[in-house]
Amino acid sequence: MIESASDIFILAIDGPAGAGKSTTSQRVARVLGFSYLDSGALYRCVALAAVEAGVVPDDDAAMAALISTLSVEPTADGRSFLLNGRDVSEAIRAPEVSQAASRSSACPSVRSALLAWQRGAVRFPGTVVEGRDIGTVVFPGADLKIYLDADPDERARRRSAELVETRTTDAESASLGKVKAEMAERDLRDSTRKVAPLAAASDAVVIDTTHSGLDQVVARIVAEATARGRVAK
Ligand code: DC
Repeated sequence: MIESASDIFILAIDGPAGAGKSTTSQRVARVLGFSYLDSGALYRCVALAAVEAGVVPDDDAAMAALISTLSVEPTADGRSFLLNGRDVSEAIRAPEVSQAASRSSACPSVRSALLAWQRGAVRFPGTVVEGRDIGTVVFPGADLKIYLDADPDERARRRSAELVETRTTDAESASLGKVKAEMAERDLRDSTRKVAPLAAASDAVVIDTTHSGLDQVVARIVAEATARGRVAK
């Protein structure tokens, strides 16, 4: 039997930076035997290209012209990205790219180019898609919508620890105070922009991860997916 797009189980995981989306999404995808799509990484690839080309990230027309020259491809496991054939998996995690991604993602031209791309990237039997507007705009008919949140202090602590551990940036940029300030700026921009702002869908299951361990959150999401007809492998 040929599976149609409607047979694909879409599991949307949205939320602000540092809420635990990536680790949780990857684990849930593995447990359910689904593929994984990190939409934030797509926005980051486009932002990195803008930074490197000296394009102002909030200039909609300039971003549209830039995007037409780009090829962005995830590797099979969905964790690494090739920008015009170059592996940029590490480069896209730098703090300056985070800020540029938050700015360029407010451009309608960037959002519409990536919308079609994301919709075409889901695979049978299911895909876990993480982002900011997955349950509200990209896949409003998703089979399961999760909104992960956590206290801002805890989110900043996690992101700062991650930057230190992966040595993505210098010690000052990875400091808790700096990360917290940058995160607050990004949260504000991402949730107040005109197009597809960060928001929980009205039918999303909201999970606060401030005091929950990864295993607990993964188990809850898998249980929600199973209750909607998806049996874990
Ligand atoms: O999830 P992340 O921190 O890697 O995302 C980087 C930026 O990309 C984020 O600040 C806002 C933008 N983004 C978006 O606008 N929509 C998405 N679905 C995912 C990310």
